[in-house]
Amino acid sequence: MPSKLGKTLWLFLFCSLTFCRALAQTPQFVSFSSAQPVLEAMRSSLPPELKASLTAAAWDKWVRTEDKEIRSRIDEGEENTLTNLLRMGVTFTKEPPITYEGLGEYGRSTAINSIADRRANDLVRALAAPHPSEGMLEMRALLERKGFSLKTPEAQKKVKAYLLANLARWRDDVARARAQAKTNPYQAFKDRGISTDSNLYPDYTIELHLKHMMDQGLLKPGSVHRIAIVGPGLDFVNKKSGSDFYPPQSTQPFAVIDSLARLGLADPATIEVITFDISPRVNRHLERARKDATAGKPYTIQLLSSPSDQWSQEYHNGFIEYWQKLGARVGKPGTRIPVPEAAGNIWNRAVSVRPAVVLKVFPVDMNVVFQTLALPPDKHFDLVIGTNIFVYYGGLEQSLARANLATMIKAGGFLLTNEALPGAAPTKLADSLKTSVPIAKSPAITDYMYGYVRQK
Ligand SMILES: C[S@@+](CC[C@H](N)C(=O)[O-])C[C@H]1O[C@@H](n2cnc3c(N)ncnc32)[C@H](O)[C@@H]1O
Repeated sequence: MPSKLGKTLWLFLFCSLTFCRALAQTPQFVSFSSAQPVLEAMRSSLPPELKASLTAAAWDKWVRTEDKEIRSRIDEGEENTLTNLLRMGVTFTKEPPITYEGLGEYGRSTAINSIADRRANDLVRALAAPHPSEGMLEMRALLERKGFSLKTPEAQKKVKAYLLANLARWRDDVARARAQAKTNPYQAFKDRGISTDSNLYPDYTIELHLKHMMDQGLLKPGSVHRIAIVGPGLDFVNKKSGSDFYPPQSTQPFAVIDSLARLGLADPATIEVITFDISPRVNRHLERARKDATAGKPYTIQLLSSPSDQWSQEYHNGFIEYWQKLGARVGKPGTRIPVPEAAGNIWNRAVSVRPAVVLKVFPVDMNVVFQTLALPPDKHFDLVIGTNIFVYYGGLEQSLARANLATMIKAGGFLLTNEALPGAAPTKLADSLKTSVPIAKSPAITDYMYGYVRQK
C-alpha cells in the first residue's frame, strides 16, 4: 500500500501536470525578448510609444493596449456582416440584392436608395420578430450591445438609420480597400473592422497547395498529426456571394481535415486541430459544436458553391470536383437546406460531420499577433493555416505574427497563408513553396497560397 507521503507526492505530481497542461493551452502575451528582433528590424515603422523607448515595460503596456484595440475591431466587422445581410439577405425581403456595383451608387441613385430603404424596413421587421433565425438573433445581439432596441417604432427608426449609415460607410470602405489593394493587396483591410465571414474557395486553394507540397516532396503521407487553424471564421452572408438562408457555420476546420485525409496526409481519427480566433462568436460556436458532439450530435454544414461566368473552364471543373467530394472523409451526406430562388446562382449540398471528428477541434481564444502558447516541443504544430486573416493588418503586425507563429511550429513544419507576409524582420519561418491558382482570364484573377517553412 502506498504510504501517506507517497499519496501526497502522487497528488502533487498529478496536479502539477494538470496545471502545466492547462497553462500550455492558455495564451500568454508575447514577451519583449521574443518580439525584440522584429521590433529592432522595424524601428522606422514602430508606433511613437515604442519608438520613444523600446523597453520591456513599454512593450508590455503597448501589446496589451493594442490587443484590446484589435479585438475592438470585431464589432465593426460584425456591423459589416449586418450590412451584407441588409444588402444581400433573401429570407426577410422580396427586394433585389444590392450588388457591389449597386453599392457604389448608393446615395447617388434614386433606384438604389429606395431598394436600400425598403430592405432596411424589411430587415428591421425581421430583427424585431418574435422568433428570429440564429443569424438574425446574433445580429440582434450586436444591436443590443451597441445600445439599440427594437421594442418601439421610435427605437426601430433609429435602428433603420443606423443600418443605412452603415451601408454608406461600407460603400466608402469598399472603395478605400480597392484603392489600398492597388498598393498592397495583402494589407487592403488594415483600416477596416475584422469580419468573421468565410466561404469554401480558400479551402480549395489549400487542398491544391497541399497536393503541390506532396508533389514537391515537402509533405509525406501520414506526416500531419497536429495542426492549427488561425481564424476559422463563421460563414453567414459572406461578402463574396453570401446568403442568410442557412445558419452561421464554421466550415474551414472540417474542410481542411477532409483534404488532409483525402490526400493521405492525416488520419481524422487521431488528428488534433487547434483553432485560434479573437471572435467570441466564432469561439462560442465551435465550443457549442463540441458540446453537441459530446452528446453524440453531428455537426451539419451546408456546402455552398456559386459558380461564376468569369471562371475559367479549368477552375470551374476543379472547384466543382472538390466541392462534390468535400466532406466524404469527415462525415456523410446531411440534410440540405434548399436554396431560395432569390439567392440566385448558389448550389448547395450538406454534410453531417461525425461527432468524433468535431471533438478533434479545440477552439482557443488567442490573438496570433500578440499572444502565444508556450507549447512543449512534442505539441508543436506540423502545419498552421490562416487564410484571409493577415489582410486585416499592417506590416508590423504581420511580421510579429510571422515571428510568433514560428515559435509554435515544429522544425520542418509549415505556415500556409493566402496573404504574403513581409520577410524583412528576422523570423524562423523562411519562404517556401507558393501555389498560383488561375481563376479567370479576363479580367485576370489568380488565387495564391504561400508556404513558410520553420527552420531549426
Ligand atoms: C475573414 S475571416 C476568415 C475565415 C476563414 N479563414 C476564411 O478564409 O474563409 C477572419 C477570421 O480571422 C479571425 N482573426 C482576425 N484577426 C485575428 C487574430 N489576430 N488572431 C486570431 N484570429 C483572428 C477573425 O475573428 C475571423 O474569424
